[in-house]
Amino acid sequence: MDPKRLAGKCCLITGAAQGMGAAVAEHWAAQGAKIGLCDVNLDGCDEIAERIRSAGGDAVTEKVDVTNREEITRAVKKTADAFGELNVMLNNAGINKPLMFLDVTEENFRKIMDVNALGVLMGMQEAAKQMIRQGKRDYPYKIINVGSILSRQAFDDVVPYSCSKHAVLAMINGGAKALVEHNITVNGYGPGVVHTELWEQLDKDLVAIGKFEKEGESMDLLAENMILMKRYSLPEDVVGTAAFLASSESDYMTGQLLMIDGGMVMQ
Ligand SMILES: NC(=O)c1ccc[n+]([C@@H]2O[C@H](COP(=O)([O-])OP(=O)(O)OC[C@H]3O[C@@H](n4cnc5c(N)ncnc54)[C@H](O)[C@@H]3O)[C@@H](O)[C@H]2O)c1
Repeated sequence: MDPKRLAGKCCLITGAAQGMGAAVAEHWAAQGAKIGLCDVNLDGCDEIAERIRSAGGDAVTEKVDVTNREEITRAVKKTADAFGELNVMLNNAGINKPLMFLDVTEENFRKIMDVNALGVLMGMQEAAKQMIRQGKRDYPYKIINVGSILSRQAFDDVVPYSCSKHAVLAMINGGAKALVEHNITVNGYGPGVVHTELWEQLDKDLVAIGKFEKEGESMDLLAENMILMKRYSLPEDVVGTAAFLASSESDYMTGQLLMIDGGMVMQ
């Protein structure tokens, strides 16, 4: 790992208390980035920030529900004030709650769309406003959104989640067009099946709705039947692509969603 690859990059990550957001935070910090971590779970963010600081890095934290614009704005400001500016925004916070198609309720649909789609839109807007205030640089500011294999297809037991991740792809595409004049790029990555706390809950929920018979089998069965590489992934599998998108190596890219799924979706 190059400790200077992300030197000087001041970044804010939503949903940074655990899972992929936390793994990316530590990986970016180890490569020289300064990290603002925000999440509804502030204690989790503080724990990751402490690990970053003990490894010699810089980190600040803020409690944020991404469905609340004021809280996002506060985290953007806190990160920019602490590090001097904001260069990279990673909209990673996300939730899922599977239900079979005919059982999907308004509440289920709205809650998932609120966090995964509206939360990303507001994260993009508040980060972009801060970047625009800072003025144009000769290198781009970067907004990175976390999509999914379900940005490109839909499963019958997670239709609202699939809608929300299709919306993330639309915002990568439309956001890239809207923000290019400010020298802000918008890209994203789409994980497949990743062993995180999110999937541990999903595994239980999938059994509860009758999609799988036993807890603990969903990841292995999906790996066997749907993943070309025949294994599910870990947060470590996504951090490299996330770092590439945050680094100057991706400066000439915008509007792209890179799949990191072991070969589940090819487009
Ligand atoms: N795990 C997978 O298989 C998988 C696959 C594809 C995409 N994703 C996406 O990757 C991202 C990270 O997922 P993960 O698996 O690491 O999940 P995770 O549950 O381990 O972590 C998600 C974090 O987001 C936070 N969060 C949830 N709602 C929030 C809100 N309203 N405001 C602020 N923070 C909130 C949670 O507290 C948690 O810390 C999500 O966008 C998810 O949809 C996950």
